[in-house]
Amino acid sequence: MTTLAGKTVLLTGASRGLGVYIARALAIEKATVVCVSRSKAGLDITCDEITALGGKSISIPFDIKNVRKLSTLKKLIHQLVGPVDILINNAGIEVCQFFPDYSLDEIQSVLEINLLSPIELSRLFLPSMLEQRSGHIVNIASLGGKKGVAYSSIYSASKAGLIMWSDAMRQELVGTGVEISVICPGYISQVGLAAKNGLTVPHLAGISTPTYVANAVIRAIKQNKAEIIVNKELITEFFTRLLFAIGQLYSPFIDVIYRWIDIPRLNRMRVEKQQRMDDSTIKPVVGKRG
Ligand SMILES: NC(=O)c1ccc[n+]([C@@H]2O[C@H](COP(=O)([O-])OP(=O)(O)OC[C@H]3O[C@@H](n4cnc5c(N)ncnc54)[C@H](OP(=O)(O)O)[C@@H]3O)[C@@H](O)[C@H]2O)c1
Repeated sequence: MTTLAGKTVLLTGASRGLGVYIARALAIEKATVVCVSRSKAGLDITCDEITALGGKSISIPFDIKNVRKLSTLKKLIHQLVGPVDILINNAGIEVCQFFPDYSLDEIQSVLEINLLSPIELSRLFLPSMLEQRSGHIVNIASLGGKKGVAYSSIYSASKAGLIMWSDAMRQELVGTGVEISVICPGYISQVGLAAKNGLTVPHLAGISTPTYVANAVIRAIKQNKAEIIVNKELITEFFTRLLFAIGQLYSPFIDVIYRWIDIPRLNRMRVEKQQRMDDSTIKPVVGKRG
């Protein structure tokens, strides 16, 4: 798909964080954006920004954790704007925890929002894309899905599943006119982890701006990229890929590098910070990644 002008895009997680930056980038491309997430107030602000940029949008507050009700969302979108040309599965949450401390509810929420819902939304919107012989699905995964991250094992599992499902689908969709991309950001500045937790991310872990990630989404659609590892510079992107390739051969080597970069300690600090918040009865922020 070489242009997004006039295309209808369903964007989940549009109320805050990275989704806002993706929405702005879509508005600049003159796409019509269907903004979905739970917070109506957040969605309205995003839609106002899209209007200010000369774009078109509608907001639909919806909890995508209700996977069985996503067919209702699909019907509503069809009634309001007709078929969707591009689906961007961006909504996601992260709960950092020492594995035995996870509740089943937390495990289910992460898997439902990060993995099951993108798969179900794709299942629902794919038939009309196939009929039109045109369409694009973008899944926002994470580097946490390329290499497991300590104290974030469920998030890693959900994102690894998303990456592998996208990989299988890309092969299944060859020749149909419908394309699929997966975006794997590392840590993102301004929104998400670094911004929300106020923890200093180790420099070597690599931090990208949300604008950079949003531009990667547009690039993935226009250039039909299978997978983009988001990193500020091509050279660091190359080395990240090389690192993961070595990890496929011998993962303990990358464990050592992760410990050297200090990633497990950073996540342990996130768990401890969350526990301190719980103890002081401040309403816990379920660590949306960020
Ligand atoms: N920030 C990072 O460092 C980073 C790094 C790698 C990957 N990512 C990925 O990037 C994506 C966006 O993350 P972010 O940093 O922008 O997180 P964020 O600031 O926490 O935003 C998450 C978005 O998802 C929506 N959402 C969460 N639960 C939902 C639900 N049950 N139903 C509908 N919408 C829901 C939220 O809206 P409501 O609360 O209004 O529902 C919000 O719009 C995620 O998939 C994340 O895994 C982020």
